[in-house]
Amino acid sequence: MIRWIRKIILLTALVGLVSTEEEQNYEMHFDGMETIDGSENYFHYNYTLDKKSETAFSVSGFITQLVTLDNGYKLQFKLSRAPLDSPDQYEVMLGLEKPLCEYMASIYKLYLYESLKDISNFPHYDQCPLEPTEYWFKDYSFDGDEYKSFLKDGHYKIEMYLIKGDEMVAGGLSKMRVEPAGSNQ
Ligand SMILES: *[C@@H]1O[C@H](CO)[C@@H](O)[C@H](O)[C@H]1NC(C)=O
Repeated sequence: MIRWIRKIILLTALVGLVSTEEEQNYEMHFDGMETIDGSENYFHYNYTLDKKSETAFSVSGFITQLVTLDNGYKLQFKLSRAPLDSPDQYEVMLGLEKPLCEYMASIYKLYLYESLKDISNFPHYDQCPLEPTEYWFKDYSFDGDEYKSFLKDGHYKIEMYLIKGDEMVAGGLSKMRVEPAGSNQ
């Protein structure tokens, strides 16, 4: 069905009824990362980011966990997007909040564990609570090109917070920009 729809879009593009935006190439820029106050009581970390191509990068680093984390904590994940020309107008595209152990047994298990288990010492999804320890991860790669057909230009913000009671106690956000290739630097 999707393929069929895409064919029609492509055909329409070919006869010139819509622009050829479907064929647009994108560039991704990493616009930095920040943590909220108090995070340093829970985690210390460092990382290095290597840009592999216009759309791909890999990241390596260390995370030292300082406090035991159990189901008394919740994890919140948020993905937001703002249009390129109005970088402050973020809209949440995906938001999730779950007690830590449930998060490990669902989201972490389904979407993260497989891609991390061979390149890090991150915990198994059954492990919870998490005792203080030092974690490492090496060459975790991301290539936006794989998501090309979904990719839309804009400012993207990924937020991840640790919540205790009603309070965000640790975490932070990172920002990325997706732009048409060659638009500017
Ligand atoms: C990053 O942290 C790890 C573990 O704490 C440490 O061994 C390493 O030297 C640090 N690297 C840098 C570049 O600071």
